[in-house]
Amino acid sequence: MQQVYLNNAATSFPKPPQVVKAVNEALLNMGGSPGRGGQRMSQAASQTVRQAREEIARFFGAPDPRRVIFTLNATEALNLALHGFLRPGDHVVTTVMEHNSVLRPLKTLEKIGVTSTRVEASPDGWVEPRQIEKAINVNSRLIVTIHGSNVTGTMLPIEGIGDVARKHGIPYLVDAAQTAGIVPINVKTAGISLLACPGHKGLLGPQGTGFLYISEDIDLEPYKQGGTGAYSELETQPEILPERYESGSHNTPGIAGLAAGVRFIADIGVDQIRAKEKHLTELLIKGLRDIPGLRLYGPLDTDRRVGVISFNINGMDPATVGELLEDQGGIISRHGLHCAPLVHHVIGTFPAGTVRLSLSYFNTESEIDHTVEMVARIARRGYSSPWYTALTVS
Ligand SMILES: Cc1ncc(COP(=O)(O)O)c(C=O)c1O
Repeated sequence: MQQVYLNNAATSFPKPPQVVKAVNEALLNMGGSPGRGGQRMSQAASQTVRQAREEIARFFGAPDPRRVIFTLNATEALNLALHGFLRPGDHVVTTVMEHNSVLRPLKTLEKIGVTSTRVEASPDGWVEPRQIEKAINVNSRLIVTIHGSNVTGTMLPIEGIGDVARKHGIPYLVDAAQTAGIVPINVKTAGISLLACPGHKGLLGPQGTGFLYISEDIDLEPYKQGGTGAYSELETQPEILPERYESGSHNTPGIAGLAAGVRFIADIGVDQIRAKEKHLTELLIKGLRDIPGLRLYGPLDTDRRVGVISFNINGMDPATVGELLEDQGGIISRHGLHCAPLVHHVIGTFPAGTVRLSLSYFNTESEIDHTVEMVARIARRGYSSPWYTALTVS
């Protein structure tokens, strides 16, 4: 059976051949770790990591590559930003659209006296910049929002929120887990102080990669300390970037792959990637919206969303639909809450969640047609079959 991979919001697949080649070459040829030895292999590893930093900085319009800090994933980048920046008494403006990678660190930070306001969203997941502005108080020290929702696909107006942040002199942390590599982002024009990105989703790099961009006016407390290759004589963590935040050996093969992913996207052009993703999203939405008994979530207008599409079939448990899609159609989806529980209160799908289909540049029109046909078939048979469960999603 043909396999259709529609779980790119979790991690993208397949990766471009250039990414696989770059990881392979790093594993085959680079015995050293960046900054850990003067021999040729170690220097080559240092150069690979340095170049990757430069390419990422260029891609996101960041003036200083040393302010691109490599992490394991978006979660680690968000934790570095939140734990590194917030202090007792600080207030954070955030939204109900956030992933647990923001909600949980903020919950943990409550223990040291950090408070937050979660701005409500419209039923399709939209938040107006003026709602963010209204939530600001005298103690507000950070604004943090997603760029694209990993449940509804809704894209928040980060430029407008960035304007609010600038107007009030409050740094803005953007969780670009669902948009980096898919939607153009320029940290300067969008007024972003901190940008958290996975390397393994839209940027098409391997798992175990991600980064945090930190603007020049932000200083974070490093939340790990240790060997940095250089500055070994110091008893304390070096102040210099990027070493201040990058203790321990790097994931050099992963970073080499991430750089190859960024090059792949830059060569095609992020606008082209976005255009193709929008086209496929449109096809999928058009096909799904007319299926009787199916409920789609998030905006229908593809200018306001990314290719992350959640739905439910009335009377069917999302887990069952997900299993049927895979067993009968070879379609890899994801079902449940997608680590963003508050979003499901907004769209009325808590606690069962949704079935989520998430696209990538590599999906095809025929895969979308096949998916629509399979979902329609499951919806048609749903009520009368043993798959039916009493669970009705509102
Ligand atoms: C909106 C959002 N934020 C953060 C994350 C965490 O990303 P990672 O898996 O790279 O830690 C995800 C992952 O799905 C996400 O969708």
